[in-house]
Amino acid sequence: MKFNDKVVYQIYPKSFQDSNGDGLGDLRGVIQRLDYLQSLGVDYLWLTPFFPSPQHDNGYDVADYCAVDPRFGNMTDFDELVKTAGDKGMKIMLDMVLCHTSVDHEWFQKAINGDEHYQRYYILRDGRSPGEPPTNWQCAFGGSAWKWQPQIGKWYLHLHDVSQPDLDWTNPEVRKELANVVKFWRDKGVMGFRFDVINLISKPEIFKDDTAGLGRRLFADGPHVHEYLRELVQNAGIEGMITVGEMASTDLENCIRYSNPNNHELSMSFSFHHLKVDYKNGNKWELMPPDIKALKKIFEEWQVGMQEGNGWNAVFYNNHDQPRIVSRFGDDQKYLKESAKMLAASIHFMRGTPYIYQGEEIGMTNAKYSSIEQYRDVESLNYYKILLNQGKSKNEALKIIGERSRDNSRTPMQWSSEKFAGFSIVDPWLSSPENYKTINVETEENDINSVLNFYKTLVKFRKENKIVQDGDIKFIERENDNVIAYIRTLNGKELIIICNFKGNNTNLTEKTLSDYTKNGYKKILGNYDELAENLRPYEVVIFEN
Ligand code: NOJ
Repeated sequence: MKFNDKVVYQIYPKSFQDSNGDGLGDLRGVIQRLDYLQSLGVDYLWLTPFFPSPQHDNGYDVADYCAVDPRFGNMTDFDELVKTAGDKGMKIMLDMVLCHTSVDHEWFQKAINGDEHYQRYYILRDGRSPGEPPTNWQCAFGGSAWKWQPQIGKWYLHLHDVSQPDLDWTNPEVRKELANVVKFWRDKGVMGFRFDVINLISKPEIFKDDTAGLGRRLFADGPHVHEYLRELVQNAGIEGMITVGEMASTDLENCIRYSNPNNHELSMSFSFHHLKVDYKNGNKWELMPPDIKALKKIFEEWQVGMQEGNGWNAVFYNNHDQPRIVSRFGDDQKYLKESAKMLAASIHFMRGTPYIYQGEEIGMTNAKYSSIEQYRDVESLNYYKILLNQGKSKNEALKIIGERSRDNSRTPMQWSSEKFAGFSIVDPWLSSPENYKTINVETEENDINSVLNFYKTLVKFRKENKIVQDGDIKFIERENDNVIAYIRTLNGKELIIICNFKGNNTNLTEKTLSDYTKNGYKKILGNYDELAENLRPYEVVIFEN
């Protein structure tokens, strides 16, 4: 099954809707907003983790896989959510964090208290020499990927925060336990799963220093990852369900294998290369404007490559780890509406399953904080210190964090122009940008030309048009520095999507817009009224024949 007519909506429960006035979103808040989600037309609701957790990494540090953290509600609320969403035609997808647990998880606690059975659940090693970790690998949030554990006299591996020890997937007991976790939620009526950093589960056979990098290339897409995924899907009984793997530093060849239906692994994969085109020298913490030609090349490589290999992409720009796309590849001041719509259209007509991250559909922007005290994310706080240590001034460091922080996407959903954006009745855990007074659901529901209504059109179009679901894809305007454009074709029909990624007028290089109309193509959708000679700032035009 390809899920080619489906659209997934991602909910970050902590920031979606607070139902009990504690400043944190919760499951009952999601239930309250199901009518809104239904009106968007989405099929699946992916909820990021709400399991018991010390929240060092906002719930991606799981202390108990099969329960609900009281901060977010209880199991009765969850059951009601599954049932009520189902009654409204939407299915629930959960986020499985199976690469690591929290240090608070019972398994890790037993391990460090000497239980050898549970010590085999984690990756524990001797150091190179006293005080020296086993390898030079760095964790994703800055600093060594190893932590010394004095009670047992070993180092444990944590590819993410120090509070997230990696599980040892070579141990069949671990794999069995994790399959049972997935099964537990499946039996509760969950109909899909997103697997967190799942391509990092199979570590290299030999642990050695990375002489050319931070280690990531040694443990991404490791030796047994495909076999482990097949086994997990089979043992959890979830084949045929929507499953998406978050693939860190992956490549096309592996993603074809992960998502080609003949391999019985996952139904699709997230890759991130297109979200690095504004990293200077590949470094997230060095700013540069997005390189649109590079973006186009990556889209082409992945769209055409997955088509040729019978793989399937999850298509997206936003999630809870990425700054807001309209602030990043668009212009959130002068051309907020135009650029938000163009960016949406640029991926919603692609071959793959689109994902909408909460707030994207109303054009929510970056947080625009003015002080480091406003940030909460462990990665942002760590990197602020790292940047200062590297000699950056406070202002420089704040500017970089302002553009790159994951908190940019975690600000509360902007429901209305009321105080606290209609998210809560008290000061929320993370504050909203001031622009909630104009960028909010209530205002946009009443504006026929809003970003929100444009998203509704895109979702509906996918459902009603086989060409978007099944058509072949080919890129055009390949040498144009400002434009990304492609053609979808099916049974002699064509759909042409032309996007101007620049904030000024630009020309097409292969054909003019009027060449299309003269040749019988008609404009069926766009973000400006009638056609002009040139593409206007952030204009998108969709033609069909
Ligand atoms: C990817 C998740 O999306 C991110 O939020 C988290 O910090 C890491 N995986 C570690 O679980």
